[in-house]
Amino acid sequence: MRTVLVTGGTGTTGRRVAHFLRARGVAVRTASRHPVPGDHQHVIFDWAAPETFAAAVAGVDGVFLVAPISDADPAAAVGGFLDAAVAAGTRRVALLSSSAVTDAPSGLGALPPLVRDRVPEAAVLRPSWFMQNFVGSHPVAAGIRERGEIVTATGRGRVAFIDPGDIAAVAGHLLFGAPIPDGELILTGPQALSYDEAAAVVSEVTGTAVRHTSITVEELTTAIEAGGVPHDYARMLAGLDAEIAGGSEDRITTTVRDITGAEPRSFRDFLLAAHPAGKAA
Ligand SMILES: NC(=O)c1ccc[n+]([C@@H]2O[C@H](COP(=O)([O-])OP(=O)(O)OC[C@H]3O[C@@H](n4cnc5c(N)ncnc54)[C@H](OP(=O)(O)O)[C@@H]3O)[C@@H](O)[C@H]2O)c1
Repeated sequence: MRTVLVTGGTGTTGRRVAHFLRARGVAVRTASRHPVPGDHQHVIFDWAAPETFAAAVAGVDGVFLVAPISDADPAAAVGGFLDAAVAAGTRRVALLSSSAVTDAPSGLGALPPLVRDRVPEAAVLRPSWFMQNFVGSHPVAAGIRERGEIVTATGRGRVAFIDPGDIAAVAGHLLFGAPIPDGELILTGPQALSYDEAAAVVSEVTGTAVRHTSITVEELTTAIEAGGVPHDYARMLAGLDAEIAGGSEDRITTTVRDITGAEPRSFRDFLLAAHPAGKAA
């Protein structure tokens, strides 16, 4: 790829994809709604404003696609964007989907079939839950910081948490031109952990006691709603925890190693890098 557009280019995954490709000499254009002072390769791009698509896709061979998550029907905007990109010469798109999203006629599940249908070379990345959720601004990280508590409805279900740096390395290799493997690209870390086990690792690394409290899906829905999230969306988010409780994320894949040649980073090593002084984020 000569020029790659990274949507969500200032976010957790996108900025890592941009860094990976720039380090290999690829011309990278990052895109998001807000300007990035000093970055002349950044374009203002808004999924809700199709008039911003043409400048973003001009001369672009490959795209890292982070879809609008708050849009109930993202396929409409993404379809228009893909048509503009392919007309401008884009051949390859790496879609950031999720292991928790299955193909469906609407919602985020409509995007994988849409991308495969519209783009000559489509890669759908389905990462498990991000290790990044335990640091920074995510509600899990906020609970750790503010109350020493992680609240979920996952019970003893395990999740093979993944470092977003490993997701970015997979996307980067594919957008650099690596062959797209057949089959589902489920991306996981090296180990599946329950939230009890994850809380123990956080406690050990940060030196601060952190506990996991598992509540019911109904209780979690109410708690998420209390944060200003509409009921249906809160119910959907809480339902993802019920899937975890049922074992949906309790599996390890070799996809990261198969594509990048490197082992994915462990949860402990991720936290040690995020908390070099042994303090909570
Ligand atoms: N967290 C997890 O555990 C997890 C697990 C699996 C999959 N995922 C998937 O990861 C994706 C999120 O990726 P991320 O965590 O890397 O992103 P992120 O850190 O949440 O950042 C979102 C990026 O998108 C941009 N953005 C937001 N709204 C936009 C809009 N309307 N138009 C254009 N750009 C917009 C933001 O910049 P501006 O604000 O400047 O626009 C930012 O660059 C979601 O699709 C989610 O399903 C997450």
